[in-house]
Amino acid sequence: MTKTVKDYIRAIHDFPHEGIIFRDVTTLFADARGFRMAVDQLLHAYAGQRIDKVVGLEARGFILGGAVAHQLSTGFVPIRKKGKLPGTVISEAYQLEYGEAVMEIHDDALAKGDKVLIVDDLLATGGTADAAIKLCKRLGAELVGCAFVIDLPELGGRKLLEDQGVTVEALCS
Ligand code: PRP
Ligand code: ADE
Repeated sequence: MTKTVKDYIRAIHDFPHEGIIFRDVTTLFADARGFRMAVDQLLHAYAGQRIDKVVGLEARGFILGGAVAHQLSTGFVPIRKKGKLPGTVISEAYQLEYGEAVMEIHDDALAKGDKVLIVDDLLATGGTADAAIKLCKRLGAELVGCAFVIDLPELGGRKLLEDQGVTVEALCS
């Protein structure tokens, strides 16, 4: 039977904390066919839409977002955890499924009116993506949408994003 994107993702129990089922996309990225399928499916969802910049979220959003940006011939902008970007940044604090963190973007990374697509591997509580949306909007960018390989709907991230009018695409849940 033909494998789907979901078939390449493995579940690791009790990582990084007891009780968490970690959805591991390294097995998807490591497979040539699986990785291409995931990138192509994300691209398909945005076919015909103007995208000026792909914004990737640390860390696995860099791998996917870089590939998507390359295919779209757009620039790539990283949103990183606190203290990793070398230039002047703006910051947003957020809650994770298993902790707290701060995300940052260079304050000159996006121009007013840029149409941006946010890309990450997984949507859980939506805290990370929500912080990224806030950062992009603070720089005057316009959201085309947020794209993920995996949505964990029971954690409410999709609702959090869609309730603020952001379009969410996920390849599997
Ligand atoms: C994971 C995942 C998303 C985020 C989703 O990253 O890659 O970025 O969690 O969770 P949320 O929807 O509840 O915010 P993680 O924070 O583990 O960081 P890492 O990619 O740097 O390991
Ligand atoms: N980020 C937040 N929750 C996660 C999970 N269950 N698997 C992988 N990444 C995550």
